[in-house]
Amino acid sequence: VSGAIESFELRWERSATRHLYGEGAIAAGFAGFGDLARGRKVFVVAARRVMELQGERLLPLRAATERVELLDVPDGEGAKSVAEAERLWRRMSERGGKRDSLVVAFGGGSVLDVAGFAAGAFLRGIEWAAIPTTLLAQVDAAIGGKTGLDLPEMKNAVGLFHPPVAVLAEPGPLATLGRDQRRAGLVEALKLGAVADLALFERVERDLERLLDGEVSALGSLAAAAARSKAALVERDPREGGERQLLNFGHTLGHALEAEAGYGRLAHGDAVAYGMRFALGLSLARGADADFAARVARLLDRIGVPPLPALAPAGLLIRMGRDKKARAEGLTWVLLAGPGAGRLETGIAEEKVATELVAFLRRGGFPPL
Ligand SMILES: NC(=O)c1ccc[n+]([C@@H]2O[C@H](COP(=O)([O-])OP(=O)(O)OC[C@H]3O[C@@H](n4cnc5c(N)ncnc54)[C@H](O)[C@@H]3O)[C@@H](O)[C@H]2O)c1
Repeated sequence: VSGAIESFELRWERSATRHLYGEGAIAAGFAGFGDLARGRKVFVVAARRVMELQGERLLPLRAATERVELLDVPDGEGAKSVAEAERLWRRMSERGGKRDSLVVAFGGGSVLDVAGFAAGAFLRGIEWAAIPTTLLAQVDAAIGGKTGLDLPEMKNAVGLFHPPVAVLAEPGPLATLGRDQRRAGLVEALKLGAVADLALFERVERDLERLLDGEVSALGSLAAAAARSKAALVERDPREGGERQLLNFGHTLGHALEAEAGYGRLAHGDAVAYGMRFALGLSLARGADADFAARVARLLDRIGVPPLPALAPAGLLIRMGRDKKARAEGLTWVLLAGPGAGRLETGIAEEKVATELVAFLRRGGFPPL
């Protein structure tokens, strides 16, 4: 693994997030930021499993402050509940959490979401840092300041924009991911590339076998490239008024599939892959570049998404209508336009979506290509 650390900043309205990607990023973060952790009470939020696998990576944090408390959360999506956020707040209160305490989220996107949310609401907002340990979290979830919890009715239903002060991402932890977890991260990188960054898309296309096989240096450098690309896009549109909505490509149906299947039964990345396949169909019917749509579909096929569980269209349609991206004038769909370019379309008739969804499910979740 190459030793170079990439560093870039995402500037917010009144703050900034420093991103460090590369081996040694955690040590550089805690030694290089001066007061990021020094002398502060630090609450590390992590699932036990990730602590067992990768916990020694936090040694530089222990060197920076002795006041480290470990707060465990359930593994995976189950961490993203109101009950778990409350459990974090109560433990932080009991253990002397103050306005200058720091939350360090160590794990995948689920842990980052609940820890960032808990930090954003505790004492009306304390600082947090993200140490993403999955490809998906390094590529996507750690960047952009969104935090959130699920309700049984709806995924990511409750949340805050609360950017971390730092994102410290090392390739090393990616070595213990399984193929399915790598696949989930690759789906999000492909998504960003397909609608906003052709070079990133082509990189996934070119390096797919090495990435799927888990070549850590390839995974680490892809994560840095994707994170930099997402950070630039978010900086242009932090509150998702326009361009940032492109990153919801595949997520309108994806979130509905994930919730309808039951959280944890269909992985987020796989649900988004199906969401993208569905959006490809909608895009093709509305003038998308057919050659590029076919390329996106082929890359999804190569990534190898597991079969779609049998789900009834009615429940999915209700969930899509409830999606937080739904406005009074109807859902805003992210469609593919051309190579590396997406576009937004609001007001596709509900009956049309319903008809296409029935056909899509009948095809087993494949686009009409
Ligand atoms: N806030 C955002 O902007 C944003 C963006 C994208 C996704 N997300 C959210 O991220 C979540 C998905 O994140 P995820 O895919 O990272 O899944 P996850 O956080 O649920 O973790 C999946 C599994 O990976 C394991 N794991 C973590 N690090 C590991 C390592 N180094 N080695 C081995 N196993 C490891 C965990 O134990 C867990 O079982 C979803 O809830 C999604 O909504 C949020």
